[in-house]
Amino acid sequence: MNENLNSNYNEADSFEKTIRPTTFDEYIGQSDVKENIKVFTKAAKMRETNLDHVLLYGPPGLGKTTLANIIANELGVNIKTASGPSIEKSGDLAALLSTLEPYDVLFIDEIHRIPKFVEEILYSAMEDFKLDIIVGSDGQSRSINIDLPPFTLIGATTRAGDLSSPLRDRFGITCKLNYYTDEELTMIVERTARVLDISIDKDAAKIIASRSRKTPRIANRLLKRVSDFALVEGLAAIDKDIVNSSLDRLKVDKYGLDHTDIEYLESLIERFNGGPVGIESIAASIGEEVTTIEDVIEPFLLQEGFIKRTARGRQVTDKTYEYLNK
Ligand SMILES: Nc1ncnc2c1ncn2[C@@H]1O[C@H](COP(=O)(O)OP(=O)(O)OP(=O)(O)O)[C@@H](O)[C@H]1O
Ligand SMILES: [Mg+2]
Repeated sequence: MNENLNSNYNEADSFEKTIRPTTFDEYIGQSDVKENIKVFTKAAKMRETNLDHVLLYGPPGLGKTTLANIIANELGVNIKTASGPSIEKSGDLAALLSTLEPYDVLFIDEIHRIPKFVEEILYSAMEDFKLDIIVGSDGQSRSINIDLPPFTLIGATTRAGDLSSPLRDRFGITCKLNYYTDEELTMIVERTARVLDISIDKDAAKIIASRSRKTPRIANRLLKRVSDFALVEGLAAIDKDIVNSSLDRLKVDKYGLDHTDIEYLESLIERFNGGPVGIESIAASIGEEVTTIEDVIEPFLLQEGFIKRTARGRQVTDKTYEYLNK
């Protein structure tokens, strides 16, 4: 592998690891979700049983993987991680499940992407802690049953709607993560700066927060980029001037909209007269998947009032015309 690429990946990996909160106390915001999960983990510990299965859903970068790891940490158990598409055969699932110790967490990211037949094996694993799989082929096949220890499945998805209802119903705890407020994101930027030993003043942290698409992953990434600019310019601390000039150089827009958001909005205005227009037409026009538009682009634009959904399709609002100077 290319040496440079390799070291870049390592840098990104260890950055994620160092800044990722590991306890409920360090996990900022999402207070309803957090308070409920705190109670349920505490109850599971008091009862000396497994925590009920948890489904976490919401747009990318809001802290689902982080929360899954925190839950395991707070329960004091191991966490095994897999992603939906990587579980291709029933044997892959069996291999994962058979390493679990009592009360361990099995975290399946992108759980909406596990194959259907794997999903069916999960049902009895989740419900009765039994693994029923067919081994061998054709005339020689036989079914084997393995008892599993009680465990907690934590599933994460950006698309709760894509989960079949039998699977969804087997989660005792379902939590939706929401976009963060600017105040929460400011705290996250300040926390990350502390962890990375970066000195930043409050105003500077606030600006980064306000331009991060309400998303911790983006806020942390911008902080890192700004600190690169500050370092190279020989500054001892990050202030609002270096934040503004760096973010302008990075072409980060003042709401944190990224170029796909802008493309989406411009396409709605320029090609569809502001809407209403169906999602398939938008997808074709900007060359994105419908699912990406629904899961990643639109939730933010809806929440911030740039678009609205009507019975006849998506429509831009006055805010968008004003914002884009159209
Ligand atoms: N509540 C939080 N407090 C502090 N930092 C957070 C919080 N939530 C997320 N982060 C930070 O944001 C980054 C992204 O979070 P995470 O990887 O958990 O998102 P995700 O929801 O799993 O995203 P994806 O859908 O892309 O898998 C992490 O590096 C983490 O440090
Ligand atoms: Mg994740």
